[in-house]
Amino acid sequence: MKIVVLAGGTSTERDVSLSSGSKIYRALKNRGHQVILLDVYLGYESEEPAAETWFDADIDWDRDIQAVSAEHPDLSRLKDLRKDGGRSMFGPNVLALCNMADVVFLGLHGANGEDGRIQAAFDLMGIPYTGTGYLSSALAMDKHITKQFFRAAGIPTPAGITVKCGEKPDPASVPYPCMVKTACGGSSVGAYRVERPEDLQNALEDAYAFGDDVIVEQYISGREFSVGVIDGKALPVIEIAPIQGFYDYKNKYQPGSTIETCPAELSQELTEKMQHYAEMAFEALGMRSYARMDFMMDSADHSIYCLEANTLPGMTPTSLLPQEAAVLGMSFEDLCEKLIEVSLK
Ligand SMILES: Nc1ncnc2c1ncn2[C@@H]1O[C@H](COP(=O)(O)OP(=O)(O)O)[C@@H](O)[C@H]1O
Ligand SMILES: [Mg+2]
Repeated sequence: MKIVVLAGGTSTERDVSLSSGSKIYRALKNRGHQVILLDVYLGYESEEPAAETWFDADIDWDRDIQAVSAEHPDLSRLKDLRKDGGRSMFGPNVLALCNMADVVFLGLHGANGEDGRIQAAFDLMGIPYTGTGYLSSALAMDKHITKQFFRAAGIPTPAGITVKCGEKPDPASVPYPCMVKTACGGSSVGAYRVERPEDLQNALEDAYAFGDDVIVEQYISGREFSVGVIDGKALPVIEIAPIQGFYDYKNKYQPGSTIETCPAELSQELTEKMQHYAEMAFEALGMRSYARMDFMMDSADHSIYCLEANTLPGMTPTSLLPQEAAVLGMSFEDLCEKLIEVSLK
């Protein structure tokens, strides 16, 4: 197949996405596909050879991609790298190459990639892509809307409120300790644990740097899990145990900072319950193809809470969803091909 893998872009999760994209690119190439890896925002320009021949050309598309650093990237300098001024989200030649592909593998994370806008554009252009559609992507990108859908469907999610920039939260409605997080973020960027009322305002202000809506919810003290769903069916549960603090950006992407166990050491009953909630969340948000839901389990009473849904979860071989698939005997290459298969159905 002719496949374009799209990665990078303009979200705070840009670096993580480039890492996912390069791994997907290698895996699909190993399976004999004609694969091009592109940064959706920067695109690719070259006089020779002509773009029409790039699927057949001997180009190392991932040669410049580096490991994810401990801090999320500074996006302000990105625009300077685009010779055309960068008005369009799509860099040079990106749409032309996507149009020539049999499928576009979306290795994007976060804004302008996981939020449904590229999916909507591709629907209008008739370009097949991996992952769920535009509407469920947009719903899942917004944690405030996601939590409303969860509540309506009977999926437990931590109690809390949504505060808009400029508004003051009713002090009586804020539980302590609480988690303060930007409604449309990802990779824990703009997420803070707050212990005391006097620290709330600072956390809110930090979170507003990433968007106007901020979730303030009950902090669930206990174990953390995640469950992938492919084609409506839950994968094995994975447990995530950061060695220090919560599962923040650094703990997510610096090797060795988190202990991940799959299948999670949980009773059959709790495992099935969590998998059931993951499948319910997939259904409630109208998803197809694949996604991954994040969970906390209260250490006191073993109550399970669904935190959020990720429509384009991390896709390096050591990411959570690929680890879950590996437990079912699916290699990373198998998984990449499987995600294409279920997406084209
Ligand atoms: N209510 C909560 N209680 C305890 N920990 C939380 C809570 N909400 C978020 N977290 C922690 O913050 C991390 C990021 O939150 P999450 O809602 O998954 O957003 P995202 O992954 O999109 O940044 C979680 O993986 C978890 O470690
Ligand atoms: Mg998460």
